[in-house]
Amino acid sequence: MSFNALSDAALDQLFRQARTVHAFKPVAVSDDTIRQLYDLLKWGPTAFNAQPARYVFVKSAEAKARLAPALMPGNVPQVQSAAVTVIVAQDTRFHEHLPAQFPGYDAKAVFDANPAMIEPAAFRNSSLQGAYLILAARALGLDCGAMSGFNPQAVNDAFFPDGRFKANFLLNIGVADPAGIHPRAPRLAFEEAAQIA
Ligand SMILES: Cc1cc2nc3c(=O)[nH]c(=O)nc-3n(C[C@H](O)[C@H](O)[C@H](O)COP(=O)(O)O)c2cc1C
Repeated sequence: MSFNALSDAALDQLFRQARTVHAFKPVAVSDDTIRQLYDLLKWGPTAFNAQPARYVFVKSAEAKARLAPALMPGNVPQVQSAAVTVIVAQDTRFHEHLPAQFPGYDAKAVFDANPAMIEPAAFRNSSLQGAYLILAARALGLDCGAMSGFNPQAVNDAFFPDGRFKANFLLNIGVADPAGIHPRAPRLAFEEAAQIA
């Protein structure tokens, strides 16, 4: 059986040569490109097709200034140089969309009856959607760098004052400045990380 694998060049771009970037060249990312990113990442799968992630594409100086006080100091220059910093958040009421997004089965009722399931599902699936965003950015030839070094409550207060959305992680996107690429750290060997049962 042979599979319909992507080319080695594509696999390099998505995984093997793709690096986390901590500084970016002053190259803008257009709103059209941001929409292209969404139109790719949205196809990544989520449980019950619930799509709990919400995204704020922070581009303007005003919005970056609102984000800055919530960042760990080392992350401030990264956000300043990135064309876009995405707040990947999760909707605490994502299940309200389920009747439209998962027709044919009343998945909303599952969450209404089991509210303790809402947060883990929102976190798990919005994290996956954030990973799809990383791969979409790489697929479009952009570079990115994720950040969890921030105060989530401060981001929530600044961007989601009504309390419905909660920040999960941040993702800088742009064109890499090679000076912002650290030496690559190793990865666990298959035997350390995996087993075939
Ligand atoms: C969820 C997440 C959070 C991260 N948080 C930060 C951060 O706050 N600041 C930072 O400089 N790098 C951060 N990183 C970058 C990681 O250290 C980096 O992705 C990892 O070492 C792999 O680097 P590589 O992709 O170049 O191999 C984060 C990465 C991820 C995926």
